[in-house]
Amino acid sequence: MISKKMKVLVENSSTIRAMFEEGKRLAKIHGEENVFDFSLGNPNVEPPETIKSSINKILNTEHPNLVHGYMNNSGYEAVRTKIADFINHKHNLDVTQNNIVMTCGAAGGLNIILKTLINPGDEVIVFAPFFGEYRNYVSNYDGELVIVPPDIETFEPNIEVLKEKITAKTKAVIINTPNNPTGVVYSEKAIKELAKTLLEKEEEFGTSIYLISDEPYREIVYDGIEVPYILKYYKNTFICYSYSKSLSLPGERIGYIVTNSKMDDFESVMSALNVANRILGFVNAPSLFQRVVADCIDAEVDVEIYKRNRDLLYNHLIELGFTCIKPEGAFYLFPRTPIENDIEFCQEAKKYNLLLVPGSGFGCPGHVRLAYCISYEKIKKSLAAFEKLAKATISK
Ligand SMILES: Cc1ncc(COP(=O)(O)O)c(C=O)c1O
Repeated sequence: MISKKMKVLVENSSTIRAMFEEGKRLAKIHGEENVFDFSLGNPNVEPPETIKSSINKILNTEHPNLVHGYMNNSGYEAVRTKIADFINHKHNLDVTQNNIVMTCGAAGGLNIILKTLINPGDEVIVFAPFFGEYRNYVSNYDGELVIVPPDIETFEPNIEVLKEKITAKTKAVIINTPNNPTGVVYSEKAIKELAKTLLEKEEEFGTSIYLISDEPYREIVYDGIEVPYILKYYKNTFICYSYSKSLSLPGERIGYIVTNSKMDDFESVMSALNVANRILGFVNAPSLFQRVVADCIDAEVDVEIYKRNRDLLYNHLIELGFTCIKPEGAFYLFPRTPIENDIEFCQEAKKYNLLLVPGSGFGCPGHVRLAYCISYEKIKKSLAAFEKLAKATISK
């Protein structure tokens, strides 16, 4: 018999599974080429060519024990040093390998941070809309998720509501910028206000409030927009970085955490991250891919491919009369649903072979998420289906 907690989680994840099954069912009836699956955040852009040559180079030149062996639970020192140097160069900082823990992607990073920080009943604040897995990650450590409702005009964090939500039990705040599902990049003004508020509240309650910045989309930005580097604004910061999207390597499970040395209890936090990596069963981030990302430190995917997709789909939706914020990063669009119920809207979309994700899962009903990390041709082909959906749901 599975645990009570898992029973609930399995039931809750059935909607995603149902969507997957529905996609397969529709493909059988209408042909794969006529089903438009905008439901998954799986990058369609190829990893940079240098990844492949780096893998070959490492496998052909290094001793197998060095490539495949265990190492410190935080990762190879040489890899962490290379990443620290890269961050310092790019953001004018002075972190070292001691500020870095290599992780199994951002998901692994978030889990070891929460394992490190959370006592049962501690509160973790998130801003809606948010990546739905945060609910599960916080519940893994018996924390309480506290949701700041969305500002649906800007999708920037609502600092006034945040002030009301922070209590003596607030242990952490999670932000995600560029954001999944809105594509919004939080402005420097918002980050400064956020940092100021957290500092004031730490003083008011005599506590440490940690800011966890979940950044798998940092590199996927358009039109030259700058993403503020949170470590510079607030000392109790963890950045969760991942190469899943920035190098299109989601299956390889590779990323890192970087922290500010001035963080409260820095030494014990870093030791705890290290131990959490081990005892949660990650042990360490994949050894080969630690070496690969260090070797390809300057590599980038071709973000123009996503930008072209964004422009095509965004312009079309706006022409059809949808209301949608223009994303500055990531690869998602988050329009309002013309009918109130986002789940019903997604059902309606299926009639035209469009697979979309209801905003409710992101704590933001009345919206829908479209992941445009699919081929340009497929998006082009889907435009007629969106037109039909608009006709059926937007009142004239
Ligand atoms: C906001 C956000 N955080 C974390 C993750 C997990 O990413 P990773 O593959 O790096 O674990 C995702 C994946 O889609 C995401 O969208």
